[in-house]
Amino acid sequence: MTDSLSHTVISGTGVFTPPNVITNEELVGAFNAFADDFNHKNSDAIARGDVSALQKSTCDFIEKASGIKQRYVMIKEGILDTHRMMPIIPRRADTELSITAEMGIAAAREALDRAGKKPEEIDLVIYGASTSERPWPAVAVEIQAALGCTGYAFDMTVACSTATFALSTAMDALMSGTATCALVVNPEYTSPQINFRDRDSHFIFGDVATACILEKEETATGKHVFRVLDRRLQTHFSNNIRTNSSFLTKAEPDITFQRFYEQDQYFIQQGRKVFKELLPLICNLVDNQLAGAKIDIRDIRRMWLHQANINMNLFVARHLLGRDAQFDEAPIVLDQYANTASAGSIIAFHKYHDDLASGDKGIICSFGAGYSIGSLIVEKV
Ligand SMILES: CC(C)(COP(=O)(O)OP(=O)(O)OC[C@H]1O[C@@H](n2cnc3c(N)ncnc32)[C@H](O)[C@@H]1OP(=O)(O)O)[C@@H](O)C(=O)NCCC(=O)NCCS
Repeated sequence: MTDSLSHTVISGTGVFTPPNVITNEELVGAFNAFADDFNHKNSDAIARGDVSALQKSTCDFIEKASGIKQRYVMIKEGILDTHRMMPIIPRRADTELSITAEMGIAAAREALDRAGKKPEEIDLVIYGASTSERPWPAVAVEIQAALGCTGYAFDMTVACSTATFALSTAMDALMSGTATCALVVNPEYTSPQINFRDRDSHFIFGDVATACILEKEETATGKHVFRVLDRRLQTHFSNNIRTNSSFLTKAEPDITFQRFYEQDQYFIQQGRKVFKELLPLICNLVDNQLAGAKIDIRDIRRMWLHQANINMNLFVARHLLGRDAQFDEAPIVLDQYANTASAGSIIAFHKYHDDLASGDKGIICSFGAGYSIGSLIVEKV
């Protein structure tokens, strides 16, 4: 799907970075203490061959395989406790602001400020994240009320591509006239979904919230405004990144907490298959997008790519450029933030766009579960 959108712009962006850091060293230390304890408690069964011993996690593997050095989390307490290994998240009263609304609002305030907009000028709020705090009432409506925005609000998800799909959805509203100024927030509260007892995936995710303001070019007064020249969205069904967590789970005949935790964990991934199947789809989509928009890759000043795995980013950038990319051409934030689901490309865009000059072009591209790919070609006004 593509169209001409020269009149819609991203006029402000914001990032909320949670207060707590967990380094690879801390995470691996906790995992290995848990593994030692498990292996000790199950030593007889392991010796008999009835139970498999847990293998150690290593910082070297994590950094080499993913590029991740640390991650931010909203609540650190409980995650490194080998008897728990999940955050302790106190339940908030219905009258209190929800935790993901709080994250989204912090990012939104920065985006509003940078766009020079007041909350009451926003008449569409989209909360787009790979997970939702609850099905209803929509957290977007809570954010709309808390900020004092007008119009309407809704939640949406397209997994790791939610942010770019939400930007596209906001553009549709601006072009059709159902909104005049939109706020897209992406509170990616990923740490509660992680199985910190799973060596293959305990290191992957981090928490963050991002926000973007979208409006028509003629109303934009922000200092760093980006016109959207082209957008492409694509989905392709795959089970290689999946969750089986559902409101249906609790009604299954043989459900136990143990089974839910150990087998139906929230995030299940075949990482190698994801590499193999998703990378060609991404490369093909962006190649076609550039050709369709008649833009030469040499005219792309910067690529703000999805931030799941450094090797994927290096591969995509190398394919598009025909050589290795400099950091400046395809900045990496996943070393500090880890995989922040749909927010990763927006963090990169937010942190690395102020230096661009008028007329400079770039690509914001997300990819992940679904599979889903969302790609926007933008140009600094
Ligand atoms: C998850 C990911 C980092 C794993 O990297 P990988 O290079 O594919 O690693 P593999 O899963 O093939 O594992 C390689 C070896 O390391 C081992 N290993 C796995 N986790 C480990 C850990 N934490 N510490 C040490 N070794 C580990 C594996 O057991 C395997 O051992 P083996 O060769 O003896 O079987 C990588 O596949 C990935 O990021 N894929 C894409 C993910 C993605 O983009 N998802 C989108 C979501 S938004």
